[in-house]
Amino acid sequence: MSDDRRDWWRHAVIYQVYIRSFADADGDGLGDIAGLRSKLDHLVSLGVDAIWINPWYPSPFADAGYDVSDYRAIEPRFGTLEAATELIAAAHDRGVRVLLDIVPNHTSDQHVWFQQALAAGPGSPERERYVFRDGLGPNGDERPNDWQSAFHGPAWTRVVEADGTPGQWYLHLFAPEQPDLNWHHPDVHADFLETLRFWFDRGVDGFRIDVAHSLVKEEGLPDIAARSWATLPFRLQSIPGVHQTDHPHWDRDEVHEIYREWRRVADAYDPPRIFVAEAWVPDPSRIARYLRADELHTAFNFDFLRCPWSADQLRTVIDDTLIEHRAVGAPATWVLSNHDVARHVSRLARSQEGVRGHHLRDLAADADLSLGLRRARAAALLMFALPGSCYVYQGEEFGLPEVEDLPDEALQDPTWERSGHTDRGRDGCRVPIPWSDSPPTFGFGPDHGNAPWLPQPAWFGEFAASGQEGVASSMLELYRAGLAMRRAEPALGDGEMAWSPSMPDGAFAFTREPGFACLVNVSASPVPVPDGWELLLASGPLTDGTVPADTTAWFRR
Ligand code: NOJ
Repeated sequence: MSDDRRDWWRHAVIYQVYIRSFADADGDGLGDIAGLRSKLDHLVSLGVDAIWINPWYPSPFADAGYDVSDYRAIEPRFGTLEAATELIAAAHDRGVRVLLDIVPNHTSDQHVWFQQALAAGPGSPERERYVFRDGLGPNGDERPNDWQSAFHGPAWTRVVEADGTPGQWYLHLFAPEQPDLNWHHPDVHADFLETLRFWFDRGVDGFRIDVAHSLVKEEGLPDIAARSWATLPFRLQSIPGVHQTDHPHWDRDEVHEIYREWRRVADAYDPPRIFVAEAWVPDPSRIARYLRADELHTAFNFDFLRCPWSADQLRTVIDDTLIEHRAVGAPATWVLSNHDVARHVSRLARSQEGVRGHHLRDLAADADLSLGLRRARAAALLMFALPGSCYVYQGEEFGLPEVEDLPDEALQDPTWERSGHTDRGRDGCRVPIPWSDSPPTFGFGPDHGNAPWLPQPAWFGEFAASGQEGVASSMLELYRAGLAMRRAEPALGDGEMAWSPSMPDGAFAFTREPGFACLVNVSASPVPVPDGWELLLASGPLTDGTVPADTTAWFRR
């Protein structure tokens, strides 16, 4: 029999709180813990089981908090450790569990370890905790290898030594302010175990693990250009089967030992704490390796997030996901948006022909937002009906589109500067969300406080929570109804599903026991409701016994 105290994560709906853009109680322009606390009732009425809070630790914010300078404290602009502990308790009082975000691949360059490493100089034990190397060439002024930063440009920065001379280089797979840790070092292991316990002792229910697949680097740090697959066009390098086992810094087999160590810590708590991996690996079988019984619990399903609005491709992703997860006994997760990708209303508002990504730069320029909204409603009901757990990114329950026209001078994502102003980055999905339709902050902060850290467009009020409350046709009420029904339906959440045969091209349906069916119409033509199916909920009105284009409907059968 399922024990919800231990197994809640197998079917949970987890709401992502991007804290800096959620609610600003003190009016400094940045969301905070008090703001989050003031909105807990919204989360309860939405019907989520847990929240995942993006990093809330002290940080210079070179990468919006993913540059952590102290893992066991709270960023003063967000609040205090006491406020954090109270928030956890307040969420628990309402039956909402709390996941934090842990960033083990890199620290901030302001972290005490990195500062010590800089001061201690080449060859010191302090430098061993990071990945420092001498440069190549007679003067050491060539980078140690050819690795690139995920934020554009080389993954190496040269330091100036204490005597003022150009010195060693350090590795950063992300921004220079995010030096990579050396996971071959015992101090690194011990310190992260202490951080896990620190937060678990304060009641935290689990962690989302940032870039969980990057921690271990191959000994010797070989050039990527030397790999057999490296001469392939970039697109082909990330298809399943191509670079799975021998990439020098992504998804190396050795990383799994770290998670076995973490799992033992989590399992020592009552109830056991849980983990969700952020691992952008190109093959569901490689994801499943993180979910073996003695490793992590779940992982984000980015194949679903990246999947175009196409019946065939959705079915394939769903099948592949379920097959691979079943093999290791782990529940699947389903996710449509997060703080790193363009909001899905805007992705789905474009032609889906040849879609291959989650950045707007890879999609057609013309957007039809009403189409995007209709598809987003259908996608939400599909996601809520699939077996496993799912994630909701703040603002998607309001149907928020991407803010595509942020002024250049407002952009804060490090990719903007590092790409030489060619890649606008991820700010468009991070704009502080609208709670009411009144400027100046649309309810994000107090009226007389600082402006939000990213400017909100004038149209934001149209998507405000306040205008959707009680409006049956709104996205907010669809999310509420869908999540309430998901909770009440024994067939939904963890478990199995079966495809229904004989659906017309461009549509698919599946059943779940007892007595539930979900029909998704991705085609341009209406699809007749099968005999004996009685409507429970739909993402848009049904007409003459048919499910219209871009609509999902749930049935009792
Ligand atoms: C993944 C996070 O989601 C993203 O926001 C961050 O920039 C990188 N990891 C680096 O920490």
